[in-house]
Amino acid sequence: MSASSAAPQAAPRSLVMRRPDDWHVHLRDGPLLNAVVAATARAFGRAIVMPNLSPPITTAAMAEAYRQRILAALPPGSRFQPLMTAYLTDTIDPAELERGHRAGIFTAVKLYPANATTNSAHGVTDIAKLTPVFDTLERIGMPLLLHGEVTDAEIDIFDREAVFIERHLQPLLERYPRMKVVLEHITTSEAVAFVESQAGGDSPRVCATITPHHLQLNRNAMFSGGLWPDFYCLPVIKRERHRLALRRAAVSGNPCFFLGTDSAPHRRSAKEAACGCAGIFNAPHALESYAQVFEQEGALHRLEAFASLFGPGFYGLPPHEQTVELRREPVPVPRRLELADGNGGVEVLVPFHAGQTLPWRLVG
Ligand code: DOR
Ligand code: ZN
Repeated sequence: MSASSAAPQAAPRSLVMRRPDDWHVHLRDGPLLNAVVAATARAFGRAIVMPNLSPPITTAAMAEAYRQRILAALPPGSRFQPLMTAYLTDTIDPAELERGHRAGIFTAVKLYPANATTNSAHGVTDIAKLTPVFDTLERIGMPLLLHGEVTDAEIDIFDREAVFIERHLQPLLERYPRMKVVLEHITTSEAVAFVESQAGGDSPRVCATITPHHLQLNRNAMFSGGLWPDFYCLPVIKRERHRLALRRAAVSGNPCFFLGTDSAPHRRSAKEAACGCAGIFNAPHALESYAQVFEQEGALHRLEAFASLFGPGFYGLPPHEQTVELRREPVPVPRRLELADGNGGVEVLVPFHAGQTLPWRLVG
């Protein structure tokens, strides 16, 4: 994608910043977990881990067992910390969420509208029915993470985020004025404007994560010269004016916008199928991809806050003391990756930016 403003004149060769965190990632389970977790742990110190496994993570015991599987799959010596989430269903027990949060197992809860995306069949069918859950979240200060799309078949797929904001998010925030909410992987100028409109008070309570792919691509990418399943994700990538709005938000220095990759690996065979899965595997070069965007926007000096400071600020966690270094060196991204699955086999995955060369290398 072309730059939308000029790069700064004295281009730096190296950028040292506090270690970033990924505030939204899918690490999967089993062989796929073994294959993908190192890519996230290489760059990020912590990550909010999505609970949309099969079956979904609905109890503290399930989350703790999953956390242990993630830790066991890490490369030796890694200090990566998975932060776990609970998957909201129509019948989830708010007392279980509170117990899990107080025990330090659940960092946040995730709301998928039923059938909005991968493994969301057990999601919420009627947000209004979750009153006891929201009462609990607001009382204990546990963040609600939203997949912000309506699922009605009559709503155009490109409008589902904007309709969700109007129909569900606005009323929810009015009913729960102190509940902390993250509108995840935002894709539209409407979402940017909405989050900006909620600013005020000492610390932000309504924030949004932004993915590298929604900053890098518009919807033409899915259809240029053929059908490109590797660019299909949910919420689906929108038109150019939305990409530009997201880029402005990401580099604005507004603490309500922070990094969340939504890296969502699917096997190549599941992406390149008659009915391909939604999700982009961007973990291998996510930080490098964000760095390219921030440089194109003349805002490399704001990358650290977006990647390493605003997320911890929202979650009430300290930023990392350790640093990482990005160096201006070309990084050729392979067309496909064959990653060891921990059982003597390999998983074949197509990484985001496959076949391209990125300008910043994460050292180490
Ligand atoms: O593209 C997506 N993939 N969006 C989601 O919300 C879920 C994710 C997945 O789990 O594959
Ligand atoms: Zn996701």
